[in-house]
Amino acid sequence: MTKKIAWRCPSNIALVKYWGKKGNQIPCNASISMTLQNAYTDTSLILTDKKSVGIELEYFFEGKQNAAFQQRILQYLEQNKSSFPVLDQYAMRIESENSFPHSTGIASSASAFGALALVLLSASDYTGDDFLERASFLSRLGSGSASRSMYPGYALWGALDEVVGSSDEFAIPVTDIHPDFSDMRDSILIVDDEPKSVSSSVGHGLMKGHSYANVRFLDANRHTLEMKGILETGDLGGFVSLIEREALALHAMMMTSSDYYLLMKPDTVAIIDAIMSFRRETGVPVGFTLDAGPNVHVIYPGKVENEVNSFLKSLQIDLKGVINDKIGTGPIKLA
Ligand code: PMV
Repeated sequence: MTKKIAWRCPSNIALVKYWGKKGNQIPCNASISMTLQNAYTDTSLILTDKKSVGIELEYFFEGKQNAAFQQRILQYLEQNKSSFPVLDQYAMRIESENSFPHSTGIASSASAFGALALVLLSASDYTGDDFLERASFLSRLGSGSASRSMYPGYALWGALDEVVGSSDEFAIPVTDIHPDFSDMRDSILIVDDEPKSVSSSVGHGLMKGHSYANVRFLDANRHTLEMKGILETGDLGGFVSLIEREALALHAMMMTSSDYYLLMKPDTVAIIDAIMSFRRETGVPVGFTLDAGPNVHVIYPGKVENEVNSFLKSLQIDLKGVINDKIGTGPIKLA
């Protein structure tokens, strides 16, 4: 017998950043993100009869067997075996591909672990009303930021007394959104497409014993609440200043850890500078955010798309590429 299950899971961009973790992928602070639409992973799971005991997995990324990814996935499956009864019942072939071009420097672990948790959960015939919450919980165990990729629009991850239903173990959707934030864009400017010099796992680790850690965690929790309020009330000016402050705070943590490092490149700073000047001169509500890398996410509402596109075209910077993305509708079951 052969059975196929497939899901598409989008990536997300953090507006308030998760940086620092403890225990089994528990965040040191709350975070809030926007789900993307065009940057996603498609993952198919093909189940066949088992030939031996133990986990039987063949893993293909973009049509080719990939030993490094296969190893990471096997480790995840071994660690979370009890959550996926399907592992004891079938041999598995997993085929995965990303919508965004290879080596654009875009972190893909959120969409990859999101799609993996979704196919495994479907294959395990999990039909609870809390399917997406459960997928959020399980994807978090592979990559923390994946927990926020399960919902349309905006998602919040991390327990906060002020937010009913919030949890460190899974993300929840943020649903009360002002119309000003219903059509947001993210133009991702690829400054560098080399693999980053310091991985996110190492970066999270460097928050242990960081001189500014406690202040940062308190700030991020406060910023998560503030961002939730801004998304509800529609304060675009407040939104722009909060995402920029958060992006710079994330990189400030890297630059001030005991093993300090710098992921921004000269062009990252040049673009940030140009965005700030353009906004000051024109009043157009556009801001930037950064992931743990040098590429710049330019965030703005759809209503100023023409102004921002002309500005981006006028930039005298030799980019490796641009990905035009926007607020997304969440995961889709493909088969
Ligand atoms: O999900 P991880 O463990 O790869 O960590 C991602 C951390 C950031 O992308 C830098 C911030 C975030 O909240 O997504």
